[in-house]
Amino acid sequence: MDVIICPDESRVGALSAATVAQVAATVGPRVVIGVATGSSPLATYAALAARVDAGKLDLSQASAFALDEYVGLPVDHPESYHDTIRRTVTEPLGIDPSRVYVPDGDPEGLPTAGQRYEAAIEAAGGVDIQILGIGTNGHIGFNEPTSSLSSRTRMTTLTARTRQDNARFFCDNIDEVPQHAVTQGLGTILDARAVVLVAMGEGKAAAVAAAVEGPLTAMCPGSVLQMHPRVTFVVDEAAASLLTMADYYREAHQSRPAWARLDA
Ligand code: GLP
Repeated sequence: MDVIICPDESRVGALSAATVAQVAATVGPRVVIGVATGSSPLATYAALAARVDAGKLDLSQASAFALDEYVGLPVDHPESYHDTIRRTVTEPLGIDPSRVYVPDGDPEGLPTAGQRYEAAIEAAGGVDIQILGIGTNGHIGFNEPTSSLSSRTRMTTLTARTRQDNARFFCDNIDEVPQHAVTQGLGTILDARAVVLVAMGEGKAAAVAAAVEGPLTAMCPGSVLQMHPRVTFVVDEAAASLLTMADYYREAHQSRPAWARLDA
């Protein structure tokens, strides 16, 4: 995997957006983008929106697939991922809302939600580039530690740690954070043709080190990315602080040949 260590959040945004734009340029206007919620990718979306506003990127025919959704929140709840994706991705990036998909978190539809979502991804031709964040416990999407490394889209139970981490979006009240989610599985995420993971801050340092340099283990779901042929981690200095091979990653990035450089 490639690891790019950046001085600040805006550089993380610029380089991760450049990775997405590079894939979009190769695939063409109907690129399929996998999108994550959380605070980490916001700089990525801002940098992509700047490219769209400048006329350098057109996502009007693109499709987007969200990673996950809480179970039991109405779709118009401001913290539902339906509404979060609309606010942070669909509108600023100018994607046609009819081509934006979020898993169905309605309790009524749970038995078939995973299957229906997998079918929608397949019908769109698969995800070309998946944008990811990572939880402090190493989760990606809502695949908590001990998730099967080949899991598909399904309902999962959130750990107390994840609910605590996400309580900040629910007036700091963990009881307001849903206990269940529907998430793309680790096997589903691995099917994306390229992956870019963004992480910032000291709180993510252990998860990033475990995902990049630790053993491949269901105890750190992000470590499954070691099995993917085309992954880029874009992190800030704090999130990189526990990487033992940081100097090597810096050297590898700086010495990239011209054809492999990102236009950021
Ligand atoms: C959430 C989401 C993940 C996200 C993670 C980190 O629980 N389900 O997709 O990557 O938490 O969030 P943040 O970037 O806000 O730290």
